[in-house]
Amino acid sequence: MTTPIAALVEATYPLQPYRSLDNETLTARIQAVRTAMGRRLLILGHHYQQDEVIALADLRGDSYRLSELAASDRECRAIVFCGVHFMAETADILANRPECLAERGGQRIPVILPDLAAGCSMADMAEIEQVEECWAQLGEVIDTADLMPVTYVNSAASLKAFCGRHGGIVCTSANARAVLDWALARRRRVLFFPDQHLGRNTALAMGIGLDAMPVWDPHGDELGGNTPEAIRQSRVILWKGHCSVHQMFRPEHVDHFRSLYPDIKILVHPECMREVVAKADAIGSTGKIIRLVEEAPAGTRWAIGTELHLVNRLKHEHPEQEIHFLSPIVCMCATMFRIDLAHLCWAVENLAAGTPVNVIRVDDQTASDALKSLRRMLEVK
Ligand code: 13P
Ligand code: SF4
Repeated sequence: MTTPIAALVEATYPLQPYRSLDNETLTARIQAVRTAMGRRLLILGHHYQQDEVIALADLRGDSYRLSELAASDRECRAIVFCGVHFMAETADILANRPECLAERGGQRIPVILPDLAAGCSMADMAEIEQVEECWAQLGEVIDTADLMPVTYVNSAASLKAFCGRHGGIVCTSANARAVLDWALARRRRVLFFPDQHLGRNTALAMGIGLDAMPVWDPHGDELGGNTPEAIRQSRVILWKGHCSVHQMFRPEHVDHFRSLYPDIKILVHPECMREVVAKADAIGSTGKIIRLVEEAPAGTRWAIGTELHLVNRLKHEHPEQEIHFLSPIVCMCATMFRIDLAHLCWAVENLAAGTPVNVIRVDDQTASDALKSLRRMLEVK
């Protein structure tokens, strides 16, 4: 029998009862909901998720692939997103775009993020007010009609909406090169936010020099800490944001592995700093990293610079290859890690009971503007 105190605790901390369950029980209960809901429930999982969570995802992918999946599924009636907040926002916008709503007679697909605290520290480094202010200041020095705003998908929906309103586009780490080609074919310059590293690494690979890439510090002085001359000479203006996980990979880590194993292949995510990317053999989104490992012959030796859970999973799934984690320090994404079996079970059971929790809902105006830049993202491969 539930005591009054237990009932009060449960009402105040609804997750509490789930915390005392072991993984086996939680997995079985999540499986039961999946079986009962069938194709009406779509659980999406980003590659950085924990093994026990990813094992329960219907589909897994990198940011680009997960956006495509949210946009293309015609059978599901609810999405549970095991990833971070900006990914769930993107899924909400794409799954509930006007033509899909019309097909479903106006019925919305709720997109659920099992833990609302699963954010992205990089996405938080650019706020819409700061971007608006940057745009206004740039307009005093250059013609913003000739400036293309490009936001990395790791950003709030309001920034994607900003890009939508200004003819701009969203990119992911999987299509950043194609997006920058697209942008610079249409306008003279790009304003790229929030990840300076992805912007810089991509533009360098296109032959754009560092002197044409000023860094805009939203906390800096006038013009983001740049001279008017530097802004006028720019091709790609980089926002001063970064990923706290990927910044932990350092060039000396690459040197260390190369000195130990001259034949080693260094494979890193483009959110790593340029000095690391310059020393790597291959660079790619999480999806590309997995593909390269899957396609490599047995016996290949790798040091991989991306989030720990993915690298550990690759080690486990590819015992025929020798896989090392590039950093001596534990680089894990603490916010991705917030999604655990307790949160997932709580989220799916509430969904099945008709009382969905943690529904991510982008307001209509923001969604409509953001959709323009997301559609462009999905068209540019
Ligand atoms: P992907 O685009 O490779 O999925 O990366 C997303 C991300 O957040 C990397 O830190
Ligand atoms: Fe954000 Fe970095 Fe985590 Fe990716 S790994 S979700 S960029 S904090």
